[in-house]
Amino acid sequence: MSKIKDSTLAAKGKAELSWARANMPVLAQIRKRFEKEKPFSGLTISVALHLEKKTGVLLETLSAGGAKVLASSCNPLTTNDATAAALAKGGKMEIFAWAGQTNDEYYFCLNSVLDGKPDIVIDDGCDLIGLLHSSRKEGLPKIIGACEETTTGITRLVAMQKAGKLLFPVFAVNNAYSKFLLDNQFGTAQSTVEAICRATNTILAGKTVVIAGFGWCGRGVASRMKSMGANVIVVEIDGTLGPHESGLQRALSALYDGYRVMAMQDAAKQGDIFVTATGNKGVIGKEHFPLMKSGAILCNTGHFNVEIDEPILRSASKRVFEVKDNIVGYEQKDGRILYLLSEGRLVNLAQPSGQGHPIEIMDGSFALQALCCELIASSRKKMAAGVHSVPKEVDDSVARLILASKGITLQKPSAEQQKYAESFDEGT
Ligand SMILES: NC(=O)c1ccc[n+]([C@@H]2O[C@H](COP(=O)([O-])OP(=O)(O)OC[C@H]3O[C@@H](n4cnc5c(N)ncnc54)[C@H](O)[C@@H]3O)[C@@H](O)[C@H]2O)c1
Repeated sequence: MSKIKDSTLAAKGKAELSWARANMPVLAQIRKRFEKEKPFSGLTISVALHLEKKTGVLLETLSAGGAKVLASSCNPLTTNDATAAALAKGGKMEIFAWAGQTNDEYYFCLNSVLDGKPDIVIDDGCDLIGLLHSSRKEGLPKIIGACEETTTGITRLVAMQKAGKLLFPVFAVNNAYSKFLLDNQFGTAQSTVEAICRATNTILAGKTVVIAGFGWCGRGVASRMKSMGANVIVVEIDGTLGPHESGLQRALSALYDGYRVMAMQDAAKQGDIFVTATGNKGVIGKEHFPLMKSGAILCNTGHFNVEIDEPILRSASKRVFEVKDNIVGYEQKDGRILYLLSEGRLVNLAQPSGQGHPIEIMDGSFALQALCCELIASSRKKMAAGVHSVPKEVDDSVARLILASKGITLQKPSAEQQKYAESFDEGT
């Protein structure tokens, strides 16, 4: 049985869901097919995703495909209680989620969705998959596979795989090119800027905004901040990300995009607003808080609340006080006040200021999730354990569907063009 905050919010949640549904044409098409073909018939799907209206439409799509669905949030602050109430009221799925959970409540909800004995798991940040490999190992034999939604989750999965500890197949949905490009870049850009404005109601134009991390998320946020008139400083690190790209190349790319680039030690003195988007920890910490101007606003849009070292900030403060929803003030011993938004959790999703990515962006991301779940269901345990790339056909088909939903159909290359593009011997 579902456990949510307030069932009287169901009517509000229903209206929000119908607005999201009306703006998710790609999932609507997939749902129509799922209703006929029932790819998940007899299967249980357990989900840990930020539980808000767009996620609700994904859950409905999986349920229409014949799945028994149980869902929790993947973060203690990001459930929309009205959406949770509406989904639970339908009685078609079980929902374990509310905004403002303690750590114990958060894990109670994750464990509750695993109690449903899933065949497939959809995770965002790898907490659910982590539990299946630790305290909930009894669930492992039934799992066919999983999907992971975000960069931090993929980092954790790759580490598990390297250590020989990942025991079922997981699609790296985050790493589909359409997902990186649309969700991480354009989605995080708009939703982060929106959430900062909604929480603070201050102007961005003329402010110095420091963005830590110039990856997919950071470069999107930087670009939107710039377009709103902010003076943007990018902070990167001299560290390796993979065989081809490191923080150094990303710093260069920020520089030639026209941003000022520097280390946090230098940026800390200049920023009016700080946004972390790195997937790393301690990005703003002990050595930076003493350098900041009084009134500086700090927030994070990376997956976990470890990018800004809140415990250190708290311990260095002579007074910590709640200003209003989503804003806490930290008065320093020298009288400066630093403001932290949404406890340093994902600012663009933390309730009540964060609405998450625009609906159309999540239409694409969740179309990828739905199609990858379908692939897992049809594999019936034939996929090897490990991290799997989303097949290019699936990635392209979602991009094609999004374009089609906007009335855009591109021409295919002619046979001659295709041959030219693939050969070396037809030059000048
Ligand atoms: N807010 C959202 O809705 C949302 C959406 C997608 C992803 N995410 C999360 O955002 C984070 C970033 O994702 P991404 O896809 O941009 O990752 P990415 O790997 O493309 O980029 C991260 C960047 O941060 C830099 N970096 C790492 N440590 C740093 C440090 N100490 N100081 C400065 N820069 C540092 C890296 O060099 C890299 O360029 C992840 O935690 C991801 O899960 C959030």
